[in-house]
Amino acid sequence: MMKILSDQEQDIEIAASALRKGKLVAIPTETVYGLGADAFNEDALAAVFAAKRRPSFDPLIVHIAELAALDRLVDYDALSPQDAELLRRASEAFWPGPLTMILPKLPSVPDLATSGLPSVAVRFPAHPVARRIIALSTGAIAAPSANPFGYLSPTSAQHVAAQLGDRIDYIVDGGPCPVGVESTVLDLASDHPRILRPGGLDRAALEAVLGPLEVLDRSSERPNAPGQMKSHYAPRAPLYLYEHGALDPAALQPGQALLFWSREDEQEFWQRASSLNPADWLTRVLTQTDSQIEAAAALFAVLHELDLLAPAGIHAEKAPSTGLGEAINDRLYKARAAARVLAEDSAKKLI
Ligand code: TXA
Ligand code: MG
Repeated sequence: MMKILSDQEQDIEIAASALRKGKLVAIPTETVYGLGADAFNEDALAAVFAAKRRPSFDPLIVHIAELAALDRLVDYDALSPQDAELLRRASEAFWPGPLTMILPKLPSVPDLATSGLPSVAVRFPAHPVARRIIALSTGAIAAPSANPFGYLSPTSAQHVAAQLGDRIDYIVDGGPCPVGVESTVLDLASDHPRILRPGGLDRAALEAVLGPLEVLDRSSERPNAPGQMKSHYAPRAPLYLYEHGALDPAALQPGQALLFWSREDEQEFWQRASSLNPADWLTRVLTQTDSQIEAAAALFAVLHELDLLAPAGIHAEKAPSTGLGEAINDRLYKARAAARVLAEDSAKKLI
């Protein structure tokens, strides 16, 4: 039976002790909730893949609570001097925080954590509850986002309970996640540094410290490129995406939902769509005030909510593409692709 724990010290101790014993504990982080397990316990790692129904070729992120923990994970000899310098600068500037770095791994890091790759993903989260749980447990906690594979990431304990509640031991409720999109993933283990996933740390901030970075092209996504599978973050309804400010009133069908970037965009839309009655449509906005931080924090909660309300389709406009907009649009693309995959699957079942 799964139990929801509070974020108070006695409950954090229960969570940490469960992790030490190889149990699965969902923990709050500043980005999304993670499904935690001791990174050095192979049975616990296998249980993470089973609970998420995640293919074992998609590796996990190992979470740490102090820089010294890198010594148990990273093969510094395999890191070029340039990459060692990038690691030093990025960890100084952005850790703890929403940045994951891919680094050459020590042989002692279980292959299950890295799906057999020679590299390990490491993140030092900023969330005080996550840090306390990691520090009190084993200091190295593998944690993918706490959603079943292919579904929306959770930004509240309730999202985790609804999606994985029957398959895990504990959820630590730390309230809503303040950042709301997953960490930015920076690869320092291949021949040149590149961003594998845009996320909660925006590219401009990273580039200000590290210099210009390549961003892995979304069009080159293959199932064997970790983390790049398109079938992620699915709401069940088909998602139709528009450029920012270009949501098309003529495309709407009864029973469909509208998702706007800001309150201002919504108002501007109803002026253009003067033949439609706003009261007839299920409508959400990501931000009241054109704030990227507010929009990122709201994104998954709004998609979860729309998923529960089960509209016939969702018409969404993209975020303005600067700053965190890059990460938000990446999640919207993935939601659209995932909705297509689900639609194809259910079409196949009908035959
Ligand atoms: O914000 C986050 O990063 C959240 C919280 C819980 O920390 N975690 C998260 O984990 O998003 P997950 O498993 O949903 O995404 C991890 C991503 C995956 O896309 C995975 O393929 C990639 O990181 N990844 C992990 N190890 C890798 C490696 N060695 N090489 C390349 N990509 C890797
Ligand atoms: Mg995930």
